[in-house]
Amino acid sequence: MIEAPAPSESIIYSQATPDDLPMVQALLRENGLPSEDAGEHLEHFILAKEGDVLVATAGVELLGSAGLLRSVCVARNCRNRGVAGELCRRMEASAFSAGVRHLYLLTTSAEEYFKRRGYRVCSRESLPAGVKGTAEFRSLCPASALSMVRDLDGDEQSTILTYQS
Ligand SMILES: CC(C)(COP(=O)(O)OP(=O)(O)OC[C@H]1O[C@@H](n2cnc3c(N)ncnc32)[C@H](O)[C@@H]1OP(=O)(O)O)[C@@H](O)C(=O)NCCC(=O)NCCS
Repeated sequence: MIEAPAPSESIIYSQATPDDLPMVQALLRENGLPSEDAGEHLEHFILAKEGDVLVATAGVELLGSAGLLRSVCVARNCRNRGVAGELCRRMEASAFSAGVRHLYLLTTSAEEYFKRRGYRVCSRESLPAGVKGTAEFRSLCPASALSMVRDLDGDEQSTILTYQS
């Protein structure tokens, strides 16, 4: 018998607190994403939990009008329920509110996923200095990681903000 996925309404989204750090790092490690510097940026992480269990994370590093979307990670048994989509929507709206207009990310495995979310591939050379200065760019992500960017000042972002308020 195939077990139906639990409804997404059972998932609660919240801002990370320092107590969450060990489980955030464990989830990132289990899924092959950099975790070493998560503690430094935890105040800008949103978590998805089902009961007490952490099922997904997403974070942003704020770098003026640029931002780095990072640590978008969903536990394997919770995928394809729209959790990453919801986390990305929340992160994009939050980054926009904080003044970010160009949201960058680095990925080795989710290019197609982020293309569907409006991101486009950009060259590593074109990244702003702030992004090039992050630990993710300098040492934690492999040099083969693709750089992608989404411009947040389009109409769609206003819709997201309206939807969130
Ligand atoms: C990529 C990832 C975050 C997607 O999480 P998710 O919660 O399953 O995604 P959603 O439920 O919002 O979206 C599901 C849709 O995206 C597609 N999708 C999921 N992962 C994908 C990937 N790596 N590449 C392309 N498409 C992908 C699914 O097939 C599904 O498509 P459908 O709507 O046509 O059925 C998750 O697979 C993950 O944690 N991967 C490992 C970590 C990673 O690579 N993170 C990104 C770099 S920061």
